[in-house]
Amino acid sequence: MQLIDGKATAAAIKQEIAEEVKAMVAKGERAPHLAAILVGHDGGSETYVAAKVKACEECGFTSTLLRFEDSITEEELLAQVDALNQNPEIDGFIVQLPLPKHIDSQKVIEAVDYRKDVDGFNPVNVGRLSIGLPCFVSATPSGIMDLLDRYHIETKGKHCVVLGRSNIVGKPVAMLMMQKSNPGNATVTVCHSASDNLKEICASADILIAAIGQPEFVKADMVKEGAVVIDVGTTRVPDATRKSGFKLKGDVKFDEVAPKCSYITPVPGGVGPMTICSLMKNTLLAAKRR
Ligand code: GUN
Repeated sequence: MQLIDGKATAAAIKQEIAEEVKAMVAKGERAPHLAAILVGHDGGSETYVAAKVKACEECGFTSTLLRFEDSITEEELLAQVDALNQNPEIDGFIVQLPLPKHIDSQKVIEAVDYRKDVDGFNPVNVGRLSIGLPCFVSATPSGIMDLLDRYHIETKGKHCVVLGRSNIVGKPVAMLMMQKSNPGNATVTVCHSASDNLKEICASADILIAAIGQPEFVKADMVKEGAVVIDVGTTRVPDATRKSGFKLKGDVKFDEVAPKCSYITPVPGGVGPMTICSLMKNTLLAAKRR
């Protein structure tokens, strides 16, 4: 069994991005500029946005954080999105989710100019992905593909089972895995909480991507001997022994599944660190396209 080290891979990719940025700046171009909108004070969102700002520093990007209270109206937020769409100094931006209940998230996502949508959430980018056109791919699926690529894991002709059908992970990663590319070119099955014979389907996977959002859902009897297991789960479970008061749990029962795998991603330190790295890759791409 080989552990897939997302932390080390992400660090290597950020280093490569930083070198490209250095070369851009040396040629007289300005550094890529990412903006983030953060509404309210959700603990998880605060942590993610702080990590995104830090990653920008590591890559040599400029970053701008726009903070608003929960009381911001949908109209005011849409005006902020429009200002970023129009601002030529901003290459790409994200609106951190979740948004307060009185704001229609889908409306906000659709308001982001698809050319600056480095989260890859706008339906234009999702549609372009589905027919294999150049686009911004959402961060987690893109990070998973990079891990498969950097570990030279064969995907062509393999049976890839995606467990979970979310718009930001399950659906796009299924699209990428079926595309005629490398990595990709796999036979893809998407299953979810309503699937019959879930155990049998998962156990038939050469590559299992677990993104169902239920801690330790995947047990040893759901995994084939020699399978590649990618664990996307990051559920916070209470842990009084930690300063933060919680620990992250994946969707895979790691201790019993790992011995059966050829490769497996740990939680934390697997897919997680790759997601922010993919956002940096998209921002660099947006800057190159300007
Ligand atoms: N909330 C959780 N994950 C994400 C993400 O990838 N992008 C944004 N904008 N919000 C999130």
